[in-house]
Amino acid sequence: MTEFERLTKQLDPKKMPQHVGIIMDGNGRWAKQHLVQRLSGHLKGREVVRDIVVASDDIGLKCLTIYAFSTENWRRSTLEVKGLLKLNMESIKSNIDELHGNNIQVRYLGSKTRLDPDYERKMNEVCKKTWKNTGLKFNIAFNYGGRQEIVEAVNEIVSESPGTQITEEMIADHLYSKGLPDPDLIIRTSGELRLSNFLLWQSAYSELWFTSTLWPDFTRVDFVNAILDFQKRNRKFGAVK
Ligand code: FPP
Repeated sequence: MTEFERLTKQLDPKKMPQHVGIIMDGNGRWAKQHLVQRLSGHLKGREVVRDIVVASDDIGLKCLTIYAFSTENWRRSTLEVKGLLKLNMESIKSNIDELHGNNIQVRYLGSKTRLDPDYERKMNEVCKKTWKNTGLKFNIAFNYGGRQEIVEAVNEIVSESPGTQITEEMIADHLYSKGLPDPDLIIRTSGELRLSNFLLWQSAYSELWFTSTLWPDFTRVDFVNAILDFQKRNRKFGAVK
């Protein structure tokens, strides 16, 4: 039995997180450590994404969101930005049939601003193709910023119903993540202890789990360990328990 299988057996199905978010950090540092280009770090990181998606399916997780490209990432060098955009599209194109075959629903969370229309069209195709799938919901936060998400939601509400009294439900219903449960657990790799504009609205009561492991070194065993740790936590949601 592998370590992953042994740990998976310890998971309590009644306490599975409904949704796990991952801030995949440390690709650049990994590349530096291995004396390779930053993009090689992202390429290695992509292999880990693939394995974590499969592992999520294996353990029966219902919803996974990865932070693949933030609105702040546009500030990186043109070479790195182009590389990340290409990497994302190629990864999805080459894995879409397998994802679809495994009943996985792929969805992009993010702003449409700044994206090339052709790129946006391809993203829409992927979402449309897998929309009716009922297995793992795999969300790719791409061109995503939590503050921008809230601003876009509020602007939509105001233009739909001018002068209306805005409620939490209305905002939640206009976020990119509309219809998804809030993340119960957010994992961040590479030792940084912050959210960096990831799922700001949705993470109000998320449990946070940090590891110093760099994303390209993160494994499915680390992933299950994070969930096991989550299952030990006492969640209060502001009440006394
Ligand atoms: C953060 O590390 C990582 C990113 C900004 C990009 C992550 C993208 C992938 C892993 C590929 C995504 C693949 C799919 C299938 C969507 P960093 O570059 O900030 O690392 P550093 O902090 O060490 O410099």
